[in-house]
Amino acid sequence: MNRIEPQALAPAVPAVEILSADKTYPNGTQALLPVDLSIAEGEFVTLLGPSGCGKSTLLKMVAGMLEPSDGRLLVWRKPVSQLHDSTRRMSFVFQSATLMPWASVRTNVRLPLDLAGVPRAEAEARVSESLALVGLEKFADALPRALSGGMQMRVSIARGLVTQPDLLLMDEPFGALDEITRHKLDADLLELWRKKKLTVIFVTHSIHEAVFLSSRVVMMAARPGRVVEQFQIDEPYPRSADFMVTPAFARYAKQLQDSLLRASTLEEEAAR
Ligand SMILES: Nc1ncnc2c1ncn2[C@@H]1O[C@H](COP(=O)(O)OP(=O)(O)OP(=O)(O)O)[C@@H](O)[C@H]1O
Ligand SMILES: [Mg+2]
Repeated sequence: MNRIEPQALAPAVPAVEILSADKTYPNGTQALLPVDLSIAEGEFVTLLGPSGCGKSTLLKMVAGMLEPSDGRLLVWRKPVSQLHDSTRRMSFVFQSATLMPWASVRTNVRLPLDLAGVPRAEAEARVSESLALVGLEKFADALPRALSGGMQMRVSIARGLVTQPDLLLMDEPFGALDEITRHKLDADLLELWRKKKLTVIFVTHSIHEAVFLSSRVVMMAARPGRVVEQFQIDEPYPRSADFMVTPAFARYAKQLQDSLLRASTLEEEAAR
């Protein structure tokens, strides 16, 4: 049985600590009840749950893009607002590629470095390295519209990696892509995560993607948003497509399916 109690998780080196952080938006929507969650360095944690359960809200609070209404968030033991002093970095990859349509792939990927004032020569070298990581070095001078949706998403990921982050926050990055492309990017992401020893917090609606990628899955319920269950996916890495046709994979998927159903039922009960 791999269902675990939140208290049972005592990560040795926390990358992210969410300490009773809750969120009520100015219009009164209670998006999140207090969340307590600790994510260790090197974990691949996926947030799963019905629409409106606060996955994006939680991720934005970790990123420092949103203030919690109460509670605290620490990244590498520091408040997010003090991260600019840190030697470690985080970056955020959104659901859509959000590229500048008039600028080349290279310029799009260089943007975070330009904003940080990194000298041009160094920036160009890092852009090339980042494009190579996602297999797009040949497309550096192309405009986004010349690329497929999957390739545009890879540009967006390259832009997320160009600052050499230690923590990658990804909000449904592959949601809009076809199944084959999505699986290819999932596999590439896992490879990167291992190679670069990243910590990843990932949001998806896909149970299969969650099982394939994650070392831990955090299930959330909506109205109000909260964490309801957590699952450790105790399968060794590297994971290949073969993992997806094993009985273990099917068991994990079933557990998550049942949990998601429970989470959705809670919501219906709350609405009555
Ligand atoms: N800026 C905002 N102002 C007011 N309410 C908001 C705002 N952003 C989100 N909400 C509400 O907060 C709750 C959580 O939203 P959030 O976008 O975090 O959920 P989610 O789990 O990411 O959903 P989805 O799976 O659809 O992306 C929802 O009820 C949503 O309507
Ligand atoms: Mg969302």
